[in-house]
Amino acid sequence: MSFSSRIPNFHNKSADERRKIIAELLHLSEDDVAILKREEVSEDVLDIMIENVIGKLSLPLGIATNFKVNGKDYLVPMATEESSVVAAASHAAKIARIKGGFTAVYSGSFTIGQLQICRVKDIETAKERLMAYKLELLEIANSTNEILCNLGGGAKDFELKTIQGNQDTYLLLHLIVDVKDAMGANAVNTMLEALKLRVEELTEGIVLLRIISNHATKRTVKVSAVFSKESLGGEEIVERILCAYDLADSDIYRGTTHNKGIMNGIIAVVQATGNDTRAIEAGAHSFAAKDGSYKSLSKYEKNAEGDLVGSMEIPLSLGLLGGAINVHPTYKLALKILGVSSSEEFANIVAAVGLAQNLAALRALVSEGIQQGHMALHARNIAVTAGAEGEEIERVANNMIKSGSITYDSAKKILDSEKVNKGV
Ligand code: MEV
Repeated sequence: MSFSSRIPNFHNKSADERRKIIAELLHLSEDDVAILKREEVSEDVLDIMIENVIGKLSLPLGIATNFKVNGKDYLVPMATEESSVVAAASHAAKIARIKGGFTAVYSGSFTIGQLQICRVKDIETAKERLMAYKLELLEIANSTNEILCNLGGGAKDFELKTIQGNQDTYLLLHLIVDVKDAMGANAVNTMLEALKLRVEELTEGIVLLRIISNHATKRTVKVSAVFSKESLGGEEIVERILCAYDLADSDIYRGTTHNKGIMNGIIAVVQATGNDTRAIEAGAHSFAAKDGSYKSLSKYEKNAEGDLVGSMEIPLSLGLLGGAINVHPTYKLALKILGVSSSEEFANIVAAVGLAQNLAALRALVSEGIQQGHMALHARNIAVTAGAEGEEIERVANNMIKSGSITYDSAKKILDSEKVNKGV
């Protein structure tokens, strides 16, 4: 399906109008639109998802526009409680598309599972035996997942490591599994369980932990984009963004916040599509610290034309199937809206959203400051908190923005004075 993700004035439409536009562009059915409108998840489904269910919690689901990744346009579903995230991502994607959009390269869906082998008397001999029996061990692992193997995936290799802990010296077996379009935790954990007995025999040790690693160094995306200096606001803004990036890469206090901004975008898409937000978040931050100190995940430089080039490598273990995705209608629909057919395509878009989010935050931070845009959007939340309803919300928010005072007290005063004027 080919369409343009550039939808002028999308943010000024009503939710009904936006649904209509998206449905037409993506050929969504009436049932799909009904799911978006009412988000009807039956209690049976909720009961399958977690334990002790007593209700459900809704989040706004928005659409980021303007994304072009590897030459293809995407409308990106984002679920977040934070105002301005969707607008900022869309804005940065609009700037990126001037120079062709985002380019992304996926490493492949290689997921690492760890076996912790304890109480090994002779580590070197144990390592030699594991290497000698590698083929047999890989076969044992693969015997647990015929479907994955038939798709060309499965356990491909393992690496051995020795870790000196405080209690013992641990021999670690890192099983490397191509999980294809799954997130992979279930497939990998099942393989690790199957290996336990044979690994204990071969090493004469005790296998303790058998679990996927969320430090997903073999499942990453490298994404980049050029942001023209004119659309960023000129040469000075480019220089300032370079300084902001420099600080994020040199100071953990700033680096953490800078990377949090990247995750604002990434987690919103991951959340909308029913993937494991905690795995993605944990993997991103450990990747930021992989060389021994915590760094910025993204990098910025200036090209010969003076434009800003943003790039980032980030681990993204994202699945199109399994877990909650299979049962929750809105997750399924979000994936349909995204229109991806592989984990590769999915991860490439999510990485692009992360870079876009980061660029938008940096651009705002080095110019008008983050509060101006953020508080303008936040004004609506404050208006509602102060009791505004329906059309009042926009009016009170706009009033506060004009007066430059976006506070609960201001919203209350505006509402009270409106009531006085109306004689209520
Ligand atoms: C706020 O949610 C995210 C930012 O703090 C990110 C950043 O500082 O780069 C604005």
